[in-house]
Amino acid sequence: MTNQAEEEVDKGEAGGIPTLVLERLRCPTCGKSVTALDDGGGVECGSGHRFDRTAGVLDFSKAGNPKGSTERTFASFGYEWNAFDEVRGEDESFSTVYFRDVDFESLRGKVGLDAGCGKGRYTRFLARYLAAEVALDGSSAAEAAARNLADFPGVAVVRSDLRSAPFAPGSFDFISSLGVLHHLDDPFAGFEQLLTYLAPKGQVLLYLYSRPETRSLRSIGQSCSAGLRKLTTHISHPTLKRLSTPIAAGLYWGLVVPGAWGEKHGVGSLAGLPMDSYRGKPFRSMTLDTFDRLSAPVEHRYVWSELQPWFDKTGLVVDAARDETGWFILAHRP
Ligand SMILES: C[S@@+](CC[C@H](N)C(=O)[O-])C[C@H]1O[C@@H](n2cnc3c(N)ncnc32)[C@H](O)[C@@H]1O
Ligand SMILES: [Zn+2]
Repeated sequence: MTNQAEEEVDKGEAGGIPTLVLERLRCPTCGKSVTALDDGGGVECGSGHRFDRTAGVLDFSKAGNPKGSTERTFASFGYEWNAFDEVRGEDESFSTVYFRDVDFESLRGKVGLDAGCGKGRYTRFLARYLAAEVALDGSSAAEAAARNLADFPGVAVVRSDLRSAPFAPGSFDFISSLGVLHHLDDPFAGFEQLLTYLAPKGQVLLYLYSRPETRSLRSIGQSCSAGLRKLTTHISHPTLKRLSTPIAAGLYWGLVVPGAWGEKHGVGSLAGLPMDSYRGKPFRSMTLDTFDRLSAPVEHRYVWSELQPWFDKTGLVVDAARDETGWFILAHRP
């Protein structure tokens, strides 16, 4: 759809949904295309299946039936992104790390999907360049995303599981899925499903948790957090939110602040401390990430030799792959 999308820029909207998105939507029940209801209250397919649009969220979640770990994952992130819903200055600086390998000019006129958008902080960043974009999340985080994306008329917020999302095959020129697939029971199956929505020549940007190959302070930290998670993934979200502040404070003053000081004064032993990506960032960003790490029911961590086969098996060409406390991978379909 690449060339087509370039010609179709600024095609307007219907029922509050950008036309470029509307024509890519498919009914998850019968697969037919959908039209927007005049009152902006949703979409309907030719067989009469209706999906509501409330407070800016086009809701396909009733077509799915989340169970087990999926239900718990959606409960965890729905709580998280509504409790920490504000888009802040530090999100902009995190964006520069996430999108470092992306050629923004190549996104002009293209249609994008941010799969697992959370509160929409990175969807906002890409929306400046894309002709239209879908912010998709399976949890009630979609409500926070809709609030944060209300000033972007080219963005449609969709609530759906990414593994059964309501899109025609090959719909998107650019798919980002940042910090999402490692929370699925079968991340590779989720990746394969995402690729069905990718257009020929389309690009995909992933962020996935990494783990060190050798024993280090970071690997010890990950073992501690894995131990803690056995408890914290079972306590209530409000209680964990309260607990996250003192835990984050210990990490911030014990590792981040001394590390920043060591870096500034050339003290190698301190400069080498882990959690360097938080140096210069406010404490509150660490509170959010502490909650995130301790709450999500499922997490997988990767070394490159486990991820490379994802791209070999699906025929994608890797353009960039770097581990900066997590894998940032940009690839394209040839
Ligand atoms: C760690 S958050 C990342 C949010 C956002 N990409 C960011 O970096 O700010 C992961 C998000 O993926 C969503 N998610 C997890 N599994 C999903 C699935 N199967 N389908 C759709 N969204 C999913 C969660 O609800 C959550 O909002
Ligand atoms: Zn239908």
